[in-house]
Amino acid sequence: MEKIRVGFIGVGGIAGTHLENVNKNEHASIVAVCDIDPNRARQVGEQYGVHSYISVDDMLHHESLDALFVCVPPFAHGDMEEKAAKRRIHLMVEKPLGLDLSNVRNKEKAIVDSGIICATGYCLRYLDTVAKAKEFLRGKQIAMIRAHYVTKFVQTPWYRKMALSGGQLVEQSTHTVDLIRYLAGDFRTVYTNTALQVMSDIPDIDIPDVTSVNFTMESGTIGNLSSTFTQADHHTGIEIMGRDFRVVLDGTSLHLFENGNKVSFESKIDFYKEQDHAFIEAIRLNKKELILSPYSDAVKTLAVTLAANHSANTGQPKQLEDFLLAAGK
Ligand SMILES: NC(=O)c1ccc[n+]([C@@H]2O[C@H](COP(=O)([O-])OP(=O)(O)OC[C@H]3O[C@@H](n4cnc5c(N)ncnc54)[C@H](O)[C@@H]3O)[C@@H](O)[C@H]2O)c1
Repeated sequence: MEKIRVGFIGVGGIAGTHLENVNKNEHASIVAVCDIDPNRARQVGEQYGVHSYISVDDMLHHESLDALFVCVPPFAHGDMEEKAAKRRIHLMVEKPLGLDLSNVRNKEKAIVDSGIICATGYCLRYLDTVAKAKEFLRGKQIAMIRAHYVTKFVQTPWYRKMALSGGQLVEQSTHTVDLIRYLAGDFRTVYTNTALQVMSDIPDIDIPDVTSVNFTMESGTIGNLSSTFTQADHHTGIEIMGRDFRVVLDGTSLHLFENGNKVSFESKIDFYKEQDHAFIEAIRLNKKELILSPYSDAVKTLAVTLAANHSANTGQPKQLEDFLLAAGK
């Protein structure tokens, strides 16, 4: 079978990881890259010996692509997904999917109607330790969840602006929200407090440096998530508790506590590699089920984080159902 012909839109930070993975995949080849930054587009094009473009339309017009990685910042998605779906090009879209739920739902419709395979960048779902946690939790009733996403400030210029990144919850802690959904089901309400407490000296910053979300879930589970970028290091975790059991995801490690016993696992895999491999295999074998984070599911994760921002702005709890209805469900 011919190799899957892959293009890239946005070849900044995270694209480097995907480019490397696709380049090493025996069933795929990178054929073109696109970035609005002409120097970056040219440099990455030269690095992989492929055509480079500064316009998405030009790339789609001149290249015959089977698959496309969309690795642009949250504010920059435009109508890239719709254009790719129209041409029946399979998509791998980095998280978060965008900043406006109605707009993202239009993309979802275009993607679903086209029948293409569409993965999203919720890479932590591919962890072996997450698979073990999911298996352990099967059939168990969860009482409470507490989670944290604690890290340092991201220097990229768009991260600090709410209108460009959506803030830390939408842009980064979304990974934790997504894992909670993957392991424990859907959110019902969110109630958020935020503050720009100690980092207001960063030029142009208007996003909170501390965020705390209290939530309830459809199952009746309650929980909270704390997020901050006030630290010099990075650590994330989720504790899922039920009667006489506890699942602790500490970064990529897993600890299972049950009836006084503890078993621990260290992850042995590169989750980005697994994710990109699954995307190429899903296309090659026409097996959508290999994608652990399809677009429609990632829309729900985005909705939780946007609803949480809405709650912070209004000072009121937000029902997910109402939030989704307002976005045209
Ligand atoms: N899954 C993960 O673990 C992970 C990790 C890092 C970043 N990300 C996500 O990937 C996305 C990009 O993040 P990044 O750190 O690579 O950002 P970045 O700023 O380093 O790179 C983004 C690139 O997109 C280009 N770009 C912007 N608008 C464009 C447009 N309209 N057309 C073509 N190119 C355009 C920029 O010039 C830049 O080169 C973000 O949504 C981020 O959340 C995901």
